[in-house]
Amino acid sequence: MFDFEFFAPTRVVFGRGVEARTGRLLKELGVSRVLIHYGGGSVVRSGLLDRVAASLDEAGIAHTQLGGVVPNPRLSKVREGTELARQFGAELILAVGGGSVIDSSKAIAYALAEPEYDVWDLYAQKRTAKACFPVACVLTIAAAGSEMSNSSVITNEETGEKRGCRNNLCRLKLAIMNPELTATLPAYQTAAGCTDIMMHTLERYFTQGGNMELTDRIAEGLLRTVMKNALILQDDPANYEARAEVMWASSLSHNDLTGLGADGMDFVSHGLEHELGGMFDVTHGAGLSAVWPSWARYVYRDCLSRFVQFAVNVMDVTPKADDGETALAGIAALEDFFRSIHMPVTLKELGVEPTEEQILAMAASCARGAGGKKGTAKVLYEADMAAIYRMAL
Ligand code: NZQ
Ligand code: ZN
Repeated sequence: MFDFEFFAPTRVVFGRGVEARTGRLLKELGVSRVLIHYGGGSVVRSGLLDRVAASLDEAGIAHTQLGGVVPNPRLSKVREGTELARQFGAELILAVGGGSVIDSSKAIAYALAEPEYDVWDLYAQKRTAKACFPVACVLTIAAAGSEMSNSSVITNEETGEKRGCRNNLCRLKLAIMNPELTATLPAYQTAAGCTDIMMHTLERYFTQGGNMELTDRIAEGLLRTVMKNALILQDDPANYEARAEVMWASSLSHNDLTGLGADGMDFVSHGLEHELGGMFDVTHGAGLSAVWPSWARYVYRDCLSRFVQFAVNVMDVTPKADDGETALAGIAALEDFFRSIHMPVTLKELGVEPTEEQILAMAASCARGAGGKKGTAKVLYEADMAAIYRMAL
């Protein structure tokens, strides 16, 4: 087992109706002025925003609101939110929504804490944050895991770059998680969310070394649980137990738990998807399923024992005489699962058909964003990334 540090400081309050306690829980954090940040309107239509605002009123917490965060959240909205929060004197950003709203909130929180710098510098990897305002959330979709992760991802619409920033300073103080709130999700978003949850563990699973028996069993259990419940939600979207399993998996899959003791994290599929998100504005989880099978077939020989273990322990493949065949059967089985929940497994199915010029631009940007190379299953360079995009067409 490789040495590791595990830091999961987020207070999680989980269950039916817990959003009614938002005001009191924030009060316990000692804040009295809050910016409520939300997305394109689902929380308005469901009445959640009003309920959360009422809970803050009851607790005597002053608040202002800013909606309009879009999936693949934009830098311009971060700047607008920063200005509003500053004028209002907000002491905490409360995200009411999913990964996009939480990430926009984290970026605002960084900007508020260090007003002398341009917040985009953090995402362009030009500097490291030294401070961050507190952030909390009322989660409405199980997917990105931003509620417990140290990451946020912002798109600079001026440059078309979608970039992540990882830093423990942005980990949420409080995550309020009621699985019932996710029952209004369109089926496509539920499935894309389940895909993203699985991918956060898969990105940690395909590594080169380290004995991590317990971590592996946690990872495999999480993957199997998400697959099982994603299928249940296809037919029964209001199933509370399935919603609850998936929501908790969302947090555990990206709070580092499922990779502890490994020799690193791969995250190449995420890197490739972020370029698709920046250029074509695709749904994150769907972009991931569209590139993963091609990535897997490109790298599996260099990480064979892990792909075999995955095939047998997660996808229930009966081992074949040849390890390569077993690995490929595992990849095909996950591809079939993605199809079964109506997720794309090629770029065409995703609805994008990049030109060769666009492929080269995405590969160059992906490699540049990663400092030239990326990956633990197999270290990949710009030419490899372009090859995977071509395989995924
Ligand atoms: O904007 P509204 O109207 O709320 O609609 C949203 C949005 O259209 C809708 N939605 C959310 N909850 C709903 C609902 N609709 C009905 N009922 C509900 N209860 O779902 C759509 C997607 O929301 P979004 O927040 O974009 O989803 P997700 O949580 O998947 O977040 C995606 C973003 O997170 C980033 C992705 O790249 C993408 O930008 N990621 C962030 C990570 C992190 N911070 O740790 C890690 C991930 O790998 C990922 O990169
Ligand atoms: Zn993701």
